Order: sequence, then structure tokens, then C-alpha cells
Amino acid sequence: MAATEPSPPNDLHLPTIQPTKFKDWVVVVTGAAAGIGRETAHHFAAQGAQLILLDINESGLKETQSLIQASGGKADTRKCDVSDEPDVNAAIAWTISTYARIDVLANLAGIYGFQPLTEYSSELYHRHISVNVNGSFFLTRAVLPHMQKAGFGRIIHTSSTTYADPKPGLSAYVMSKAAVVGLVRSAAVEAGPGVTVNAVMPGLIDTEEMRSKDGYEGIREKILENRAVKRDGKPIDVARTIAFLASPEAGFMTGQVVNCSGGETFSF
Ligand SMILES: NC(=O)c1ccc[n+]([C@@H]2O[C@H](COP(=O)([O-])OP(=O)(O)OC[C@H]3O[C@@H](n4cnc5c(N)ncnc54)[C@H](O)[C@@H]3O)[C@@H](O)[C@H]2O)c1
Repeated sequence: MAATEPSPPNDLHLPTIQPTKFKDWVVVVTGAAAGIGRETAHHFAAQGAQLILLDINESGLKETQSLIQASGGKADTRKCDVSDEPDVNAAIAWTISTYARIDVLANLAGIYGFQPLTEYSSELYHRHISVNVNGSFFLTRAVLPHMQKAGFGRIIHTSSTTYADPKPGLSAYVMSKAAVVGLVRSAAVEAGPGVTVNAVMPGLIDTEEMRSKDGYEGIREKILENRAVKRDGKPIDVARTIAFLASPEAGFMTGQVVNCSGGETFSF
């Protein structure tokens, strides 16, 4: 876990953790069993939030919970398949009945598969739509009424720079991440006041799952060549961006897609 991990030593000013920044906020993180979701959960917990960790991977959830609790944070877990509408509704209803409100939804659950378009299996295509698109919609619809009632809320979904700069083999993934942009823009105009809906758009981020993919090293080298900030993107980089979008300081930002890629691409 790297919630307090400094940026590279050439950065003059190092990031700081503010232990009470999100004190007693109720923060739901999906995809919390691994990768960026785990780091995001830890980053909020390190700053005082009560975490609700959702994922299909129960053992991974328990690991994240233990890591958070070992550093003095508060985290509850619940198995939830974000592509399953009743499961999402039940997880959000349970969170509300247990914790009374939801301040932040950080939706990191996602899948990425690589297959050339002409060979793309229908099964893998439908899975991308179910998890990345339907999951984002079901979650938004389930949390929004509670946030609107409270007059405050932050919904942060996850797109990808591959939407702006697609790579071969990612058609269904890129399509699903484009849909996330449509969702945040359309949800933003219905959500407020006090409730914002944004997306973070990570570039290539060095997670265990990403490292396990065939051809990862080659892709990484090419991306690093073109990236303005010449280092690997880390889960903590994305977690910090999400925490900013969740913060009271970001209250005037909604319907936005925030690129966090070290300048891999400048548009979307
Ligand atoms: N790592 C990158 O380079 C990168 C780049 C751009 C965008 N993203 C996006 O960031 C998000 C997190 O990526 P990551 O690299 O941490 O991935 P990861 O594979 O390490 O973690 C994803 C988590 O989502 C969970 N998950 C998958 N399907 C689920 C479902 N149906 N219901 C609930 N949980 C489910 C997995 O169990 C896993 O714990 C994803 O949306 C991904 O598309 C990642």
C-alpha cells in the first residue's frame, strides 16, 4: 500500500496525507479487491473515511480490509457484482441502512480484455458492456437518490485514455469507456446541486493485473517514450485524482473527465 508513497525524488514538493480530510465520510469503492480500487480505498481510509469495499473477489476484499485496518483505518466489505442490478441495489441499500448515507462513490470495478476486432468473442464483448457500462449505470442510479436527499455527493467513474488514443485489440473496452463519458455528462445535468458526477481517465497504470497481460512490457515502453512525465503511472496517482474530485474543493467541477496519465494524451 502506498497511500503515503512520495512522488519521485525529483519532485520538489511531496504529497501529504491529511488524516482528517474525509473524517467520517462514507466512501463506497468498487473494484476494491485489487489495483487502483484497493489503493483508492486505502487513500480515503488514511484520511479518516469509513470505507465500504465492494468487489466480486471476496478474498481480495478481505486483504484490502486487513491492510486498511492494520494502518488504523475503517473498512467494511460486501461481495457485489456490479453487473448484477439486484446485487448493486442490495449493496447500496445495505450501506444506507448501516451507515445512513453515502458521500462518495468511487467506481473502479472494471475489466479489460484484448482481442482483434474481427475475432472478438461475443461473450467477452457482452462482459465489457455488463461490467464497465451496466455496472456504472446501476451504481449511479442506486446512489443518486440518497445523495440528492442529503444535498451532497460525489460520484467518480473510471474511463481510460484508450478512449482518446485507442490501441489495437481494445475495441469493446474502448467502447465501454466511451459510454462512461456519456454517463457522467448526462448524469451530471440531473444530479446537482451539491452532487457532482465526474470520471477519472487513467493512462497506463502499473497494476498487478496489467503486468500479467501478454505484451505488457512492449506497450509500457512505447507509452513511456511518448509520455511527458517519464515514469510509470501508479495506482496512488489515480487515487489522489479521485480524492481531489471527491473533495469539497472540487464542488464546481461536474460532468468532467479528468486525465491522469502523465501527459500520455492531451485530449479525449
Ligand atoms: N491499470 C490501467 O492501466 C488502467 C488504465 C485505464 C483505466 N483503468 C481502469 O481502472 C479501473 C481499475 O483498473 P485496475 O487496473 O485497478 O484493475 P484490476 O483488474 O487490478 O482491478 C479491478 C477490480 O475490479 C473487480 N471486478 C471485476 N469485475 C467486477 C464485477 N463484475 N463486480 C465487482 N467487481 C469487479 C476485480 O475483481 C478487481 O478487484 C478499471 O475500470 C480499468 O478499466 C485501468
